[in-house]
Amino acid sequence: MVNMAEVKNEIVEGCHVPVLLPNGDGWHASEVLSIKEINGKSLFYIHYEDYNKRLDEWVPIERMDLSKLEQPKKDIKTPIKKEGGVGASRISNGGTESRPCSPEREIYENGTMQSLGLSNSGAMKVHTGCDGFGSRKRKLDEDTDSQDAPLAPRQTGSMVAHHDDIITRMKNVNLIEFGKWRIKPWYFSPYPQELTTLPILYICEYCLKYLKSAKCLERHLAKCLYKHPPGNEIYRKDKISVFEIDGRKNKQYAQHLCLLAKLFLDHKTLYFDTDPFLFYCLCEQDAQGYHLVGFFSKEKESAEDFNVACILTMPPYQRMGYGKVLIEFSYELSKVECKTGSPEKPLSDLGLLSYRSYWSQTILEILLNLKPNESGERPCITIHEISELTSIKKDDVISTLQHLNLINYYKGQYIITLSDEQIQTQERAMAKRPIRIDPKCLHWQPKDWSKRGKW
Ligand code: ACO
Ligand code: ZN
Repeated sequence: MVNMAEVKNEIVEGCHVPVLLPNGDGWHASEVLSIKEINGKSLFYIHYEDYNKRLDEWVPIERMDLSKLEQPKKDIKTPIKKEGGVGASRISNGGTESRPCSPEREIYENGTMQSLGLSNSGAMKVHTGCDGFGSRKRKLDEDTDSQDAPLAPRQTGSMVAHHDDIITRMKNVNLIEFGKWRIKPWYFSPYPQELTTLPILYICEYCLKYLKSAKCLERHLAKCLYKHPPGNEIYRKDKISVFEIDGRKNKQYAQHLCLLAKLFLDHKTLYFDTDPFLFYCLCEQDAQGYHLVGFFSKEKESAEDFNVACILTMPPYQRMGYGKVLIEFSYELSKVECKTGSPEKPLSDLGLLSYRSYWSQTILEILLNLKPNESGERPCITIHEISELTSIKKDDVISTLQHLNLINYYKGQYIITLSDEQIQTQERAMAKRPIRIDPKCLHWQPKDWSKRGKW
């Protein structure tokens, strides 16, 4: 029998202990990242090893199997965090962080993911709050333009990196209200510290300004001039519109979008210089206005031919095909530019799933549309032609064909063979894509940013 009161004192940050999963579905090895007391009761912020960080949560001692408590391993060094642009670089792992899991493992083995990650209501957790930015705190003033003050660049140095890592590893915003949705954040985002202690952070769904109470939001909405994102509407079909926003011209909107996106993006660092980026916001229109469904950012000039920096579908709209609509849109822009493109790496687990699915379906669509010639000869197509037709970079075409196991060596040459089953799966998958981008509805000309001096 474990004496809870005694063992409680032995639970320190960095301990490893099995924790009962939220749906009661067995125990999972976990690491204690932080500890807090609320009304005399201890709560422990834990990371489920091998699972994505979005599942991390505060748990009471009762959810822990204390008979298997392990003290932290000593002598672990913390690497220095790297810096980057909007979605440009990786947040380094803390020295004790578990390795990231493969998408398959996380999605298929962890049945709780949907309820945890995508819930739009859920029980609220009380949070003592944490400040990732110390002296760089911003003051919230809903009636002034204080929200547009960019945060100062981060300091470097291992102590700061270590401090930032511990802080940014933990979710800091409890819940957001966004339009008609209440959404539980997945990751840390550098909203001002005083807002992270609130049970709900209110965000105007049109201008993305953040507010501390429902009353403030109400007052704000009465005078908010936006009913859609700023910038040019470059696409409209049925209820779907896409707006192009210049990160220099609409800096405040772009910064607010980055803050919001960071709540659901783990591995990208936000930097508040949005000037070098364009943002493509996909909205669904109704009588009230244009509701943000998702967006992607794109560098104005990319030496590596990246056509997407960050991509996000707002959680209430996820798993409905919008991710692929956004990806399709990014490739339609590349087609107009007469370029091939690829998303910026690293991809998140869900990003990889979505891109793999889009690439597979798009390439299979091309292959199945190849008609035999008059003499009934089998159609011939090169990797280069597939890449030109789709704007998907050659490396991604090759990796997709390999992933689908379509390339075979036959009589001295490589051929692509499709089984009947693959053809049927593809037909079913295409039938399930209700929204497709119609290139005729895209009204857009690329700009030559190299000729514009400093954007
Ligand atoms: N579990 C299992 N499969 C999933 C999940 C999930 N939670 N979410 C999406 N998928 C699969 C879908 O089943 C679909 O596959 P299928 O065609 O084989 O059925 C595929 O991924 C795409 O689904 P969509 O509905 O088109 O995509 P969605 O609207 O859900 O958006 C996105 C995908 C943008 C990655 C979304 O999950 C998201 O915003 N995640 C958080 C931010 C993120 O990780 N962005 C990508 C970072 S990488 C980068 O920015 C370049
Ligand atoms: Zn507003």
